[in-house]
Amino acid sequence: MVLKETLLRHGYRFESDTDTEVIPKLAKFVYDRLSEGTSVNGEETQEVTFSQVVMEVMRQLEGAYALIFKSSHFPSELVACKCGSPLLLGVKDAAEPEMKMDQFINNDLLHDKRQGRPKEYFLASDGSAVVEHTKKVLVIEDNEIAHIKDGSLSIFKFDTAKARKIGGVPRPASVQRALSILEMEVEQIKKGKYDHYMQKEIHEQPDSLTTTMRGRLIRGGESKMKSVVLGGLKDHLRTIRRSRRIVFIGCGTSYNAALAARPIVEELSGVPVTMELASDLVDRQGPIYREDTAVFVSQSGETADTLQALEYAKSHGALCVGITNTVGSAIARGTHCGVHINAGCEIGVASTKAYTSQIAVMTMLALALGDDSISSRIRREAIIDDFFDLPSKVREVLKLDIEMKELANLLMEEQSLLIFGRGYNYATALEGALKVKEVALMHSEGILAGEMKHGPLALVDETLPIIVVATCDATFSKQQSVIQQLKARKGRLIVMCTKGDAPSLCSSGACRFIEVPHVEDCLQPIINIVPLQLLAYHLTVLRGYNVDQPRNLAKSVTTQ
Ligand code: UD1
Ligand code: BG6
Repeated sequence: MVLKETLLRHGYRFESDTDTEVIPKLAKFVYDRLSEGTSVNGEETQEVTFSQVVMEVMRQLEGAYALIFKSSHFPSELVACKCGSPLLLGVKDAAEPEMKMDQFINNDLLHDKRQGRPKEYFLASDGSAVVEHTKKVLVIEDNEIAHIKDGSLSIFKFDTAKARKIGGVPRPASVQRALSILEMEVEQIKKGKYDHYMQKEIHEQPDSLTTTMRGRLIRGGESKMKSVVLGGLKDHLRTIRRSRRIVFIGCGTSYNAALAARPIVEELSGVPVTMELASDLVDRQGPIYREDTAVFVSQSGETADTLQALEYAKSHGALCVGITNTVGSAIARGTHCGVHINAGCEIGVASTKAYTSQIAVMTMLALALGDDSISSRIRREAIIDDFFDLPSKVREVLKLDIEMKELANLLMEEQSLLIFGRGYNYATALEGALKVKEVALMHSEGILAGEMKHGPLALVDETLPIIVVATCDATFSKQQSVIQQLKARKGRLIVMCTKGDAPSLCSSGACRFIEVPHVEDCLQPIINIVPLQLLAYHLTVLRGYNVDQPRNLAKSVTTQ
């Protein structure tokens, strides 16, 4: 606002209300000012450079951004910079032999002209946009500037804090950067036989879960031991076990995944687990202590609220653990240790396969934390056994696709959908409702069934559709009673239950059922969410909305 007001005072006119528009206008303003300062009596004394203009703009900006500048004043030049938001540079050189991972390059190596080799550069916020051109990338860090001029690239660091302090632009320092290789295949960003990415990603879950588990679950061998190995955490498990509290922090689907894993982490570690929505933790400046382990869950690893919560927790001395899907992301780099969920590139804005892989990883975290306890050994081994069956069980539940399409047909004209769950499946209710609202643009609410009598029951009548998750676990009899009470109010019920349980839940034929295969209670949310993902997908298609890019939403929310 301050910058915009200044520019308005100087006669600039704006065509939009976006803060983005302020930046090019500011660049023009800065360019004019710098040009005036370098001419005496109309004679040029010193040339204004493009990077000088950009640095001056950066000095004045606050908040998160990733920017690429082009200007008619500087033909054949391009300047890119970032702060907070992700930016990477792809480097393609057809004539160059394959580069090795982490090969260090300096600016000389990137000078095409000197080496006489043509190069192409790609700037993007995410590897998936670059991978079809090249796998060689440089991750641009905060306050770095990439300057491409006549085909040559140079990267330098610009100290914005110092610039603000001295009220001018200090001399930038040239930096050496490592080239890394994207671990992603072009096929991952293609839809293949599917109509939409969300559909593809839902159906990929047997494979994405297999990749998440690969090399991390051990069964058999000579000792017949069943155990979990999380390479990124093995040196930190003792510290986590001894922490006073584990705090799960995330936004949206990632928060829901942490909520699904919370009971098993508490059960197997014995450490109390609290839940924090990242923005709320920061708003409240909630207490975080040195004795805490703060676990940051984020598919993209770039969500601004989660990143800010990470900086906050770090400054309070907590051990910071990341659970992310994106190697090299800001959260993966900023945490002390962590686990990559390895679910593969997720393109649909509504998270599906990342959700199930996040739950799988956090359940593995629980197993690893409980590894030193003899009393929970049978329980842990049963979970590990079911982990191995999980991909085939997910394949089985995916067969409900047609059934879910029929259900979507029945519900497509509705205004609202309630989903009741409890225990492990409170998260299923929240996540199912989130999917329905974000893609199908239908009001939907996930409700803790234990809270039913404290308000939601007033909504129940013969028209409002209600999904009740009542798969077999320790809360089953309580859910039986919830179903009875909803039926007594003539509720329009769709009950998700374990195969074979339907008669014990509703014999009158008044309910519709979604029957799913049974797994250990802590893994059941992975199975149960799949039909709800399919339902949200079909509702969206039938209602004629954009599945992969729902209105007003973004895949990575890199601003607050
Ligand atoms: C790692 C390799 C994997 C290899 C395996 C073989 C990477 C990215 N992973 O997997 O390719 O097959 O060893 O043993 O090279 N980390 C964070 N924060 C996060 C996520 C991860 O700090 O949010 C850190 C971890 O502490 C660890 C590193 O990143 O130091 C890699 O984590 P992860 O990929 O989960 O480790 P492995 O499964 O052992
Ligand atoms: C956005 C996405 O809101 O960010 C959601 O649309 C996602 O799908 C949320 O759950 C959090 O993102 P991330 O990358 O931190 O898991």
